[in-house]
Amino acid sequence: MNDATGMPQSAVVIGGTSEIAGALLQALVRRRLRRVVLAGRDEQALAKVAAHLQAAGAEQATVMAFDVTEVAGHAAFAGEAARALGQVDMVLVAAGILGEQSESETDPEAAARVLTTNQTGPAAAMVAFAAELRRQGHGRIVVLSSVAGIRVRQANFVYGASKAGLDGFAQGLSDSLAGSGVSVTIVRPGFVRTRMTAGMDPAPLATTAEAVAADIVRALERGSPVVWSPPAMRWIFAVLRVLPRSLWRRLPG
Ligand SMILES: NC(=O)c1ccc[n+]([C@@H]2O[C@H](COP(=O)([O-])OP(=O)(O)OC[C@H]3O[C@@H](n4cnc5c(N)ncnc54)[C@H](OP(=O)(O)O)[C@@H]3O)[C@@H](O)[C@H]2O)c1
Repeated sequence: MNDATGMPQSAVVIGGTSEIAGALLQALVRRRLRRVVLAGRDEQALAKVAAHLQAAGAEQATVMAFDVTEVAGHAAFAGEAARALGQVDMVLVAAGILGEQSESETDPEAAARVLTTNQTGPAAAMVAFAAELRRQGHGRIVVLSSVAGIRVRQANFVYGASKAGLDGFAQGLSDSLAGSGVSVTIVRPGFVRTRMTAGMDPAPLATTAEAVAADIVRALERGSPVVWSPPAMRWIFAVLRVLPRSLWRRLPG
């Protein structure tokens, strides 16, 4: 069960090698987290993450092969992960790819890859885990959305659209779970320096995986349904959201 301060003791991570997920798991292991299922495509890399978590104090860190785009297996996977943990206090949905915008907007398969990895696959996984969490009567889904989905920019509109869809889906799921004991926390980071953004010029207010993790932990403690990271993004996007389109289009990419 999540304890009185909102801290989970068990967690499933979809995209277990994500750097943001890694920072959050380390922060949570320093609190109450003891049992983790790490799901993803690269089992060797996942095993390294598992070893780090165990060295930090986790009692169980189980690696499971999982591709978020293969939605037919999601229900069975959610059941298997729940059985491995006994109780699932938190499901962290971290899988995602940035894609190469020039490729994504010209190659249909590349566009579909970004949308399936960032939106369709994670949405299907949330549906599968929501059913498990409803059955247990408690638990929290934490999903890594992005400010890129709050107002989609031409410069990365395929990724932005995938996150807009994911964010909207998570909002609707959250409402549909009201009263079930299950909640959804939507995380909207700005530019985070991880391998996903390696080699890119940092955007204003660029942050780190550790800072995003600290913002998420604070939100779990407060029970906040939405996390902007850094928090100032909330106010920046309150303005950017209503900027006339003629101005929005002219903002630097
Ligand atoms: N970095 C940023 O600036 C930023 C900002 C806002 C939101 N986010 C979001 O935060 C999340 C984590 O990003 P990050 O910065 O930590 O980047 P990251 O380290 O590259 O993590 C991405 C994760 O997604 C996994 N993944 C990709 N395709 C997958 C698939 N088909 N099936 C299962 N797992 C898959 C990767 O696993 P593999 O090892 O198999 O590739 C990796 O674990 C993403 O959803 C990202 O969109 C990032």
